[in-house]
Amino acid sequence: MLSKSTVGLFFLLLILGSVVTGLEAGLACPDWPLCHGKVVPPFRWDIYVEFSHRVLGAIAGIFLVILAFKRRKIYSPAYKKVPIIAITLLAIQVLMGGFVVMLKLPMNLTTIHFSTALIIFSLVLFLAYFDESRKPKFSSDTFFGLFFFLSLLVLVQAGLGAYVRHSGAGLACPDFPKCLGFWVPPELSGIVLTHFLHRSLAYIIFAVFIFLLIYSNISDQLQKYKKKIGMVFGLIVIQILLGVGIIHTKLFFVVTAAHVFVALLIIYILINTWYSKNKQSTV
Ligand code: HEM
Repeated sequence: MLSKSTVGLFFLLLILGSVVTGLEAGLACPDWPLCHGKVVPPFRWDIYVEFSHRVLGAIAGIFLVILAFKRRKIYSPAYKKVPIIAITLLAIQVLMGGFVVMLKLPMNLTTIHFSTALIIFSLVLFLAYFDESRKPKFSSDTFFGLFFFLSLLVLVQAGLGAYVRHSGAGLACPDFPKCLGFWVPPELSGIVLTHFLHRSLAYIIFAVFIFLLIYSNISDQLQKYKKKIGMVFGLIVIQILLGVGIIHTKLFFVVTAAHVFVALLIIYILINTWYSKNKQSTV
């Protein structure tokens, strides 16, 4: 129950963070840790969007600390550092959130803030997956396995997506499937390059999953993951369509929030599949 709630809270927190950016409410509370000098700020819709993100962050943080302490007690010495890393990153993330506001949303810091949130999310999934009945046991051959690399690929793409967003490159290629009327724009630099890289990596991920889908019909090793690979492939198709939707709706916040939601769903499936290959099933 605690583990599921913590995962759910972090899911919501990341999506709400995207809504805050989408509604340009990031500076609605111009100070930190208080909001307009108060614990409970005066009512205005944008203040409450930003304020609810802070409150949800605090609740999710408390859940994570409780879960981390519970897991630290039962993990073997080699894995006891995972909950500690999660709590340390959480503390850094809270401070970074304060700096993001006080420094008026600098592009690099907001991107690092989102990327750190993704790492914390991955660690929350670790703490939620490995419990009393499923202890972690990573071996060198499964540590860098296929699902590790797939998870990493999508995490990098998500971080790049955040950079697209915070560097203002969302509409640098305003058309689709071409970019500024070209398959490869002649002047590939600045925000056009950033946007183009995000799209290109999406096509690479798409191609990788088509290959895996075909290969899972031939390979005995991959056969048992066929359903999962098919599910992720479907989500990638939806994600690409949402990417097109972001451009056509000119960054409508509901579509960007859905884009983040699907990204988290893909990461959730891939990382949990990777973890499931690294468990010791008996206590
Ligand atoms: C595997 C595929 C993809 C993943 C995992 C992914 C993930 C992400 C993530 C996590 C963000 C950050 C959103 C935020 O910070 O709130 C983002 C932003 C963005 N993505 Fe993607 N994306 C993918 C494919 C695409 C494609 C194919 C396109 C375009 C056709 C696209 C267009 C965009 C745009 C325009 C933004 C910036 C939105 C803004 O400025 O508000 N994405 N992406």
